[in-house]
Amino acid sequence: MASFILFIFRILDPCLQDRVLTSGSGTLLRMLNLLFDSLAPRVLMYDSTSSKPGLVTKNLRAFYMNNNKISLENIRPVIDMVSDAWFVYPLHESLNRHNGTVFSYYFDHKGEENLIKSMGSNLDLGIGHGEELAYLFNNTMVRIYEGGSELDRTISKSMIELWTNFAIYGNPTPGLEGLNWRPWTRDGHETLHIGGASDAGGEDGCLLNVEPDPILARSNFWKSIPVRDNPKFQW
Ligand SMILES: *[C@@H]1O[C@H](CO)[C@@H](O)[C@H](O)[C@H]1NC(C)=O
Ligand SMILES: *[C@@H]1O[C@H](CO)[C@@H](O)[C@H](O)[C@H]1NC(C)=O
Repeated sequence: MASFILFIFRILDPCLQDRVLTSGSGTLLRMLNLLFDSLAPRVLMYDSTSSKPGLVTKNLRAFYMNNNKISLENIRPVIDMVSDAWFVYPLHESLNRHNGTVFSYYFDHKGEENLIKSMGSNLDLGIGHGEELAYLFNNTMVRIYEGGSELDRTISKSMIELWTNFAIYGNPTPGLEGLNWRPWTRDGHETLHIGGASDAGGEDGCLLNVEPDPILARSNFWKSIPVRDNPKFQW
């Protein structure tokens, strides 16, 4: 999760953030590489839930980093790794265990105004945690209706309609033409993809597409390693 990495940097002067990450002798990156084996189990929260935290760390290094060192050039897999540990894997587990009607969405629209920019960084760190909330609620950090683009506002209006439909009818797309966002099922794995590749026109020029969850494979990887096998912490 990009906001996690930026969170660390918030303790520094915002102007220093980019320099800390980008400078050749980046102290923070050196520390991350040096202390990875002891930091990973705690930061990614498997130090007490796993019976073999060392093995999990090895698996993660291979899966996300190809056993290479962390560098600015391969920072995205590291962001994915933190996202998956904190949000993506628990979210997919919740979707599959929930017995009620649940809808899944995948938001990767990079707005003109965005969270990473509002935190003072020019780096391309992806979409921040909670980024989509700015499209639903007015707030002080990301101002879609004041600083955003026409595209940002179009996406915001669609999302507000879908979310209010869900609140009123229990269904985000009750008879809307063209879009049929159905509930998540354990076999179907359908998700509403908001933005992303379709920002550039996409296959059918839509900003919102119902499609198979594009990152489910990453959760399947987490399922295959012993992250929550300590009997004291069964979930
Ligand atoms: C969902 O249903 C299954 C089978 O009926 C049950 O075992 C499980 O506890 C339920 N899960 C929740 C979260 O209620
Ligand atoms: C958002 O809140 C600000 C400050 O309260 C206000 O000036 C602005 O008009 C609001 N924008 C929208 C779209 O409601």
